[in-house]
Amino acid sequence: MTNILILNGPNLNMLGLRQPEVYGKTTLAQIEAMCRDHAAAREVTIEFGQSNHEGALIDSIHAARGKMDGLILNAGAYTHTSVALRDAVASSEVPMIELHLSNIHAREPFRHHSYLAAVAVGQICGFGAAGYTLAIDAMLAHLKPPG
Ligand code: DQA
Repeated sequence: MTNILILNGPNLNMLGLRQPEVYGKTTLAQIEAMCRDHAAAREVTIEFGQSNHEGALIDSIHAARGKMDGLILNAGAYTHTSVALRDAVASSEVPMIELHLSNIHAREPFRHHSYLAAVAVGQICGFGAAGYTLAIDAMLAHLKPPG
């Protein structure tokens, strides 16, 4: 069984209500349900979490060390500000995929830079809620490359 932690940062608890023209109408609870269905069909167990607090996200990333096989991280705005989150990912030694619902590169210039990108296996952005299940498949391809 492959264990994947899917961690969501600040304001992502507001999905569905928050700027639906940017982030879509799907709630975080609906995304979690989609991920659980997707994982169940693939012999993957997931832990799904959200916090508005940088330190709580860092604690969750530390706790993943040696326990989880992969981390899918939508760090929200902390993506663009947090050296501490980047250091947490690096110290966890858990492969991480950086995820965003929106295409951060097509938005305001301050969203173009990610502190996380350099410690990520790769980045998925711009596919809305579907990005979460794409990220599960991408993590599986990374952990168990075909062939
Ligand atoms: C986001 C993009 C970030 O720039 C923004 O601050 C978010 C959400 C996304 O999923 O598109 O909170 O990570």
